[in-house]
Amino acid sequence: MTEIERIDQLRNELHAHNYNYYVLNAPVISDQEFDRLMRELQDLEAKHPECFDANSPTMRVGSDLNKNFTQVEHKYPMLSLGNTYSESEVADFYERVRKSLNEDFEICCEMKFDGTSISLTYEDGKLVRAVTRGDGVKGDDVTDNVKTIRSIPLVLHGEGYPKNFEIRGEILMPWTVFEDLNRERELREEPLFANPRNAASGTLKSQNSAVVASRKLDAYLYYLLGDNLPHDGHYENLQEAEKWGFKISHITRKVRTLDEIFEFINHWDVERKNLPVATDGIVLKVNSLRQQRNLGYTAKSPRWAIAYKFQAEQALTKLLKVTYQVGRTGAVTPVANLEPVQLSGTIVKRASLHNADIIASLDLHIGDMVYVEKGGEIIPKITGVDVASRPQNSEKVTFITHCPECGSKLIRYEDEAAHYCTNETACPPQIKGKIEHFISRRAMNIEGLGPETVDQFYQEGMIHNVADLYTLKAEDICKLERMGEKSAENIIQGIEASKQVPYERVLFALGIRFVGETVAKKVAKAFRSIDALATATLDELIHVDEIGEKIAQSILLYFSNEQNRMLVERLRQAGLKLEADEEDLSGHTDRLQGKSIVISGVFALHSRDEYKDLIEKHGGKNVGSISKKTSFILAGDNMGPSKLEKAQKLGIPIIDEYEFLSMIAEE
Ligand code: IVH
Repeated sequence: MTEIERIDQLRNELHAHNYNYYVLNAPVISDQEFDRLMRELQDLEAKHPECFDANSPTMRVGSDLNKNFTQVEHKYPMLSLGNTYSESEVADFYERVRKSLNEDFEICCEMKFDGTSISLTYEDGKLVRAVTRGDGVKGDDVTDNVKTIRSIPLVLHGEGYPKNFEIRGEILMPWTVFEDLNRERELREEPLFANPRNAASGTLKSQNSAVVASRKLDAYLYYLLGDNLPHDGHYENLQEAEKWGFKISHITRKVRTLDEIFEFINHWDVERKNLPVATDGIVLKVNSLRQQRNLGYTAKSPRWAIAYKFQAEQALTKLLKVTYQVGRTGAVTPVANLEPVQLSGTIVKRASLHNADIIASLDLHIGDMVYVEKGGEIIPKITGVDVASRPQNSEKVTFITHCPECGSKLIRYEDEAAHYCTNETACPPQIKGKIEHFISRRAMNIEGLGPETVDQFYQEGMIHNVADLYTLKAEDICKLERMGEKSAENIIQGIEASKQVPYERVLFALGIRFVGETVAKKVAKAFRSIDALATATLDELIHVDEIGEKIAQSILLYFSNEQNRMLVERLRQAGLKLEADEEDLSGHTDRLQGKSIVISGVFALHSRDEYKDLIEKHGGKNVGSISKKTSFILAGDNMGPSKLEKAQKLGIPIIDEYEFLSMIAEE
């Protein structure tokens, strides 16, 4: 995929996620993942100023993401720990402590859990507040979500707990839960979480506590704060906290010598692989609270503690060869084929090399011994080459010049990292990719058909393009290997049902470059039939809201191609919907023309979805967040406090549902 296509894809995805998040209150990805996509888009847009789009999701992120949570100031700021990867710095820490205290001391050794930190406040034995770290001074109040985490006590057991105290710890998603979650997301074609940390923090920020409850988060607590703690020892206090019902790690040990510290580190660097949750290091804390106070703090972190972080796991293995994959868009991705090697619990045989520049910067040669790392992420990467062990006269890896699938010459567009095969209509993976896109859930949603079946049909010469799907016959399908009568019937039924898919989705399914889901909707609204679209001029196209020159050119190019026009003709013959249903149009007015409207809160008369439809039906635009350009806010009960504040600050009118309905009502 080119970066430009990626921009379009990201914009479409983010628009949809914005809608899910702000309008439906039903986010389908984590905030973390949302932020990651947004950052990727921001970076790409910065790199491609020619793709500027005033309606890009980057234009309306503002700062009120996640702001549906109330911000709370921490009673004690949430500091971070000094980090080190070096054993000699651990020794320096120990020496500093020894010299400053000038008396006996104990060090508490703990696991450094790799999740998201939380501060819990208890009053009279009851959980009253749970706040994220935020910027260390203020965090988000996520009490409702935290209450769904079973290992966090809502009411304390036993006795002897202080009347008021805070306890801090880490919220984690266990590996097994993380893997199941990603497996499900893959099935639903949703973006995967990169690691359990992202999954945990994303889940914790979910707007829907039922989602949090379903995600089976866990928590370890490792730090008590308050004026009347039972003991002077941090370790001893944690033992008490365990009796009150908190989950405390049993790995924690009190030691005295540096040797014992290294013993702990070395043991757990290996053993941590068998733990149910992710860890990324060891935390060392001076045990006595009195001594902690004596040592004090630097501006950022305590002088009485340090985190020793484990090196990301690496493996050294041999680069056997580089192969190249061609995607649906013709983008060519190099893949390193490696001598199989064990890394963080899985066997790694392949690693992505991304593009020609990466290969060049690594100066890769076939037969090189290369370092692979997973670093908490799913796809391994090559981080370096052991040049000293390079065999003599080994062959330097140079990027291929011709498509490995069809032999066409590859091109590299200016300012782009990827190489492309432009032989769209005859390069097998591109043909198959187009068909796979056509049948996918968000496009024609043809049940019973998947990539393997498409491949089988293609290999058998039964399909060469999407129109061929509509000429398939059950009796031919069931002759194929592994294909029973029942599955053949299912496929035919699925194909038949796709003839009812609305025009806008057919447009998306065609796979016209830059015409993603959102663009397809806009286009379908402006050009009510494919014939109107096929004959539209550049001028007419760019007059449509959100259609820029780039998309317009791509649409023109698509219809200027004779083969594409024939394809559309065949789809028409097959009975696909190539125009908008007229019933869609009944009841439309332009009473809200030009108005940009934010929906917030809970309504009595209609659902949010219905209000969104009403806005669109009457020519208005529903937007996710408040800006200077917002015409008004359609507010129900419990409008989010940050939205309210922003609206008041910008002087944007707030109207209720009765007033709104009268605005759009017939005279
Ligand atoms: S103690 C003042 N103990 O690491 C220090 N932190 O950079 C309070 N963490 O934000 C933190 N395991 O999220 C402490 N056993 C542990 C920890 C731990 C993980 C995280 C925590 C904190 C960060 C410190």
